[in-house]
Amino acid sequence: MSESPWWQSTTIYQVYPRSYQDSNGDGIGDLPGIIGRLDHIQDLGIETVWVSPFFASPQLDFGYDVTDYEAVAQEYGTLDDAVRLIDEVHARGMRVMFDLVLNHTSDQHPWFQRSRSSRTNPKADWYIWADGRGKHGRRPPNNWKSAMEFTSAWQYSPIRKQWYMCSFLPFQPDLNWRNPEVKEAMFNSVRFWLDKGVDGFRLDIFGQIMKDAALTNNPVRPRVYNGFPRMTERVHTENTADNVQLAKDLRAVCDEYPGDRVLLGEVFGPPSVLRSFLGDDDGLQLVFLFDFLTYKYDAEWFARTIAEFDRNFPAPQQPTYVLENHDRSRTIDRVGGDPAKARVLAVILLTVRGVPTIYMGQEIGMSNTPLRFKDALDPIASSVFRRVPQFVADRMSERLNRDEMRTPMQWDSSANAGFSPAGVQPWLPVNPDYVRVNVADEAAQPGSILNLYRQLLRVRREHQSLRTGSLALLGALPPDVLGYRRNDILVLANLGEQPAVVRYTGEVLVETGQVAVGSGRTTLFPDSAVVLRTVVPRMA
Ligand code: GLC
Ligand code: CA
Repeated sequence: MSESPWWQSTTIYQVYPRSYQDSNGDGIGDLPGIIGRLDHIQDLGIETVWVSPFFASPQLDFGYDVTDYEAVAQEYGTLDDAVRLIDEVHARGMRVMFDLVLNHTSDQHPWFQRSRSSRTNPKADWYIWADGRGKHGRRPPNNWKSAMEFTSAWQYSPIRKQWYMCSFLPFQPDLNWRNPEVKEAMFNSVRFWLDKGVDGFRLDIFGQIMKDAALTNNPVRPRVYNGFPRMTERVHTENTADNVQLAKDLRAVCDEYPGDRVLLGEVFGPPSVLRSFLGDDDGLQLVFLFDFLTYKYDAEWFARTIAEFDRNFPAPQQPTYVLENHDRSRTIDRVGGDPAKARVLAVILLTVRGVPTIYMGQEIGMSNTPLRFKDALDPIASSVFRRVPQFVADRMSERLNRDEMRTPMQWDSSANAGFSPAGVQPWLPVNPDYVRVNVADEAAQPGSILNLYRQLLRVRREHQSLRTGSLALLGALPPDVLGYRRNDILVLANLGEQPAVVRYTGEVLVETGQVAVGSGRTTLFPDSAVVLRTVVPRMA
């Protein structure tokens, strides 16, 4: 039997380095801290660790603004620590992915410092520069919007008397990937980490890298996408054909190396568009599908979305599933703080066909930490969202301050939740619920959400059907019940408010909430889910 590539059936755990574990008492998480907590990730049953950026950076966007792709930020440790992290993950039989911010650098990167200094310097063309419109060129070159949609993507530089493009925030200038020197320099940094043994990369806003070379205006067509209002259709700035080609070029770099080195793109758009990044198995291996970040807690919604993902990513391609990350609300807050519902979502996340990602703390049911908006460190909150009109803010079910999802990991009920030593002030406050919601206490409670995650991940590892089996949604179920079959495994979840009876039964592998499995029928009470094995193997 030939083994399928590891990424097709892996499970991913996202570590936000600043908030995982502070090993030296400065209030900031660091690489030695992560290494010291790898056993937790291994015990959880995770197969791949994705570490958010820890490269040299002024930390205005907490690492998503890099000044040196081949150096580790001082507060996070050293290059040796990064190499040790790779080795320690491997020593535990897991894989590790780093986070590559290819679209932009920090404006403090030496390349940009040089680039902005004149129109003729050797780095002049390393970023996307354009003349403005109007008599004195003081109007932005075109109507392109930044990621936040409320501001132009262009920033004026009085020195060059030109505009530079920023898909994100003004201190994150977009690199000019049409310049072969840029491409070469960036690919060499990719090789730098591949040489050190990293198994792959999560690619930050990958779909935005290649914009239309002619700077054509985007059509103005307001709508709401994934919870965020958009004024323009980003046909010339997102998911372009040239960007698909870049996926293939990057894949070719990874394929210079032995073993499957994997690329997972942060991209935005409908699944039918996003699959183009995979090419014919010569592009990215995986792309994030973010619809689950804005789910409706509704069986029909899940059935429809899962069907859409599954149809667009036929095996050996894999859809991906994600409920939380460092940018978006915690799961539990989306379901009115109801842990029973968060548990049902965990069952779905870890039993559908595809690659699931778990954000640190999700496994213990961490919630958003209520913080005062005016204290926000998150640069989006403190700049852009500060100016969002109230009626728009009300329409967005999103949290506008990402700090709330980035507070320190809660390890135990001691001071600072075990993140930093007592007496130290962590970079963001610890959620006061840590006395109840923490790894140590939940590990000791058989019925905790942590133990549910562990059990689900174990069952997933033990059953090939859950790893690689096909998925078939079950029809003719009671209205609020979601059900699907993965070969010999059945998953049933009741997302409604009434008990529901289904005519399926089997051996219970995992259950959450109240479930009664009888002969020929199973009763699911509200907010319950069960994983059943329907074919009991014959004894030898
Ligand atoms: C991605 C990251 C986010 C970051 C942004 C700019 O969306 O997930 O945290 O702020 O890109 O790099
Ligand atoms: Ca530290």
